[in-house]
Amino acid sequence: MGSEEVLIVGGGVMGLSIALALKQKGMTARVVCRNPQEAASLAAAGMLAPQAEGLSAGSMRDLCIQSRDLYPTWVKDLETIGQCSTGYWASGILSPALNGPEASPFNHDRNQWADVSKMRAIQPTLSDEVQGGWWFPEDAQVDNRKLYRALRAAARVQNIPIQIATVTKFIHTGDRITSLMTTDGELQAQHYVLATGAWSEELLPIPVKPRKGQMLAVTMPMEDGLPVRTVLFGEDIYLVPRQDGRLVIGATSEDVGFLPGNTPSGIMQLLQGATRLIPAIAKWPIEEFWYGYRPVTPDDLPILGESQYRNLTYATGHGRNGILLTPITGKLIADWITTQTNNPLLAAFHWSRLIA
Ligand code: GLY
Repeated sequence: MGSEEVLIVGGGVMGLSIALALKQKGMTARVVCRNPQEAASLAAAGMLAPQAEGLSAGSMRDLCIQSRDLYPTWVKDLETIGQCSTGYWASGILSPALNGPEASPFNHDRNQWADVSKMRAIQPTLSDEVQGGWWFPEDAQVDNRKLYRALRAAARVQNIPIQIATVTKFIHTGDRITSLMTTDGELQAQHYVLATGAWSEELLPIPVKPRKGQMLAVTMPMEDGLPVRTVLFGEDIYLVPRQDGRLVIGATSEDVGFLPGNTPSGIMQLLQGATRLIPAIAKWPIEEFWYGYRPVTPDDLPILGESQYRNLTYATGHGRNGILLTPITGKLIADWITTQTNNPLLAAFHWSRLIA
């Protein structure tokens, strides 16, 4: 497609990673986004957890594992370009079980079961209630807020314009998008990408809805090193330690549309789940509460690749796995736009599975 210009709607990690991947292929790309502070990218915890999430075998698991495995080299390149750390940490993820493997809601491979003594060797401060769990040494984490800053820095270095404006309408003639109406006037490009997460259905008729997640962070005491050394992925609760002593605790999963705010019941649920795993958390200072909106589809799979329009590509609906799927989405979408050849990996994520 030569140096055709691509206009990406959405300035979260997904939109930025697609813009950078296109740039690396010699294309010009620019981004238009509303309020980057609202993006799920900043609300997430940054777990890279295809195994701990217990995804069943199939295309989604393949996509997630491939993306996790791209992370080390992808962040290295990004950090070199933007001169900014992403906080990527190959910490492994421990999935504690409170009632033994049979009663656990997870259906993990028994080969990865770790008994109590192995669990405590990895994470000594676990509660006495923990009866063992699963250990996924290849799962990892990234500091999603640092990742977002690193992507912005890399975009700046690569001269990718990021325009703050609200897109109000896609204008089309037949099966081609001709322009976008925005609060900053009309914008045109030869190709368009929709990467607007939970807000996608406001722009085009694709079934992506918000699923709210509430989160909080506490400060860990650091006198004897990190008291939480690895990600703990429990039943309806996860704890994600950062190396600077912040401990991110998440997350509720609520079908309440775009209802804003943290609630006492949401925060209580998180604190009960967290202290059940690590009782000492009850005494650590609270740093912050926040919430965000996961973009979910009816089958919990993203919508990726071609659309009903010849010059519009979808990259939305990543649900619980947006941060994890950022590198592979950038790569697959840039490949699709430049070659118009569908990677077989994209087949399961085609929009037509959801719209008659
Ligand atoms: N990735 C975990 C969550 O969405 O809560």
